[in-house]
Amino acid sequence: KRPIIIDTDPGIDDALAIAIALYAGELDVKLITTVAGNVGVDKTTYNALRLLKFFEKESIPVAVGADKPLIRPYEDASYIHGKSGMEGYDFEDPTCTPITENAVNAMRRIITESKEPITIVAIGPLTNVALLLKVYPEVKENIKEVVMMGGSLSRGNMGVMSEFNVGVDPEAAYILFHSGVDIAMVGLDIGLKALVLPEDSEEIKTMNKTGEMAYCLFKKYRGGSFNTGLKMYDSTAIAYLLAPEIYEVVDTYVDVELAGSMTAGCTVVDLKGYLKQSNNAKVCIDVDADKFRKWFKESIRKCN
Ligand code: BDR
Ligand code: CA
Repeated sequence: KRPIIIDTDPGIDDALAIAIALYAGELDVKLITTVAGNVGVDKTTYNALRLLKFFEKESIPVAVGADKPLIRPYEDASYIHGKSGMEGYDFEDPTCTPITENAVNAMRRIITESKEPITIVAIGPLTNVALLLKVYPEVKENIKEVVMMGGSLSRGNMGVMSEFNVGVDPEAAYILFHSGVDIAMVGLDIGLKALVLPEDSEEIKTMNKTGEMAYCLFKKYRGGSFNTGLKMYDSTAIAYLLAPEIYEVVDTYVDVELAGSMTAGCTVVDLKGYLKQSNNAKVCIDVDADKFRKWFKESIRKCN
């Protein structure tokens, strides 16, 4: 089993990504770390704990991460995910609490202790990941890869040129792309194509408890219209691990615009090598949408 840490800001699409990861036989979720993103970190932490209760996986530790971006003021996305971040389903209160270590120290411990290199799946703003790499650079030796949902080859969903997870904390993304660790970027372009169509939602609804919960969340999820298809952004990062064949991937150089007065948080994906830099990331440039839908449904079917 591939050991992973999920760094997340649940988040409706985060909830489904976490569900799939927890029930995938190929993955071993060692730790969940939370970050301010879709909603504040108190809420994303509470949501992570509620999810683990729901999935009966409360033995997985949750560590609390950054409550704001490294430098910039924090803006949430509660207009998409609702006030709680996971509006639409009546979750039970968690019975567990976060561990006492903060996210960065917990990540460091898990990575250092692991016999096998750890994969970090980052599906929220990259604040915790950046802090980890800056404060404890020695962990890089035992990081297999950072698979991130974020960035864009084209335009944005937070600003004209910025995708939310990079746009919230561009400096953190910059630190990651300049860290030297192996990176896989599954960006907005993929998320816009990897849709769950209304007929899929109907199918999912009756699959199991998770399907029913997903359906209830989907009805409140404003990131996409229920009728024209829902964008399952964060699950696309899990799909990169479990079904890489659905993607077209290129090795390239990615940088993050920090100075732009209108374009800060833009991922500059240098497909043609204008910047004359060595490649630092694998970037998904296309996805087979039908295969994604099929994979997504099969994955939800494996949940409880
Ligand atoms: C990303 O932003 C968040 O709203 C989603 O959870 C996803 O991680 C998409 O841009
Ligand atoms: Ca997210």
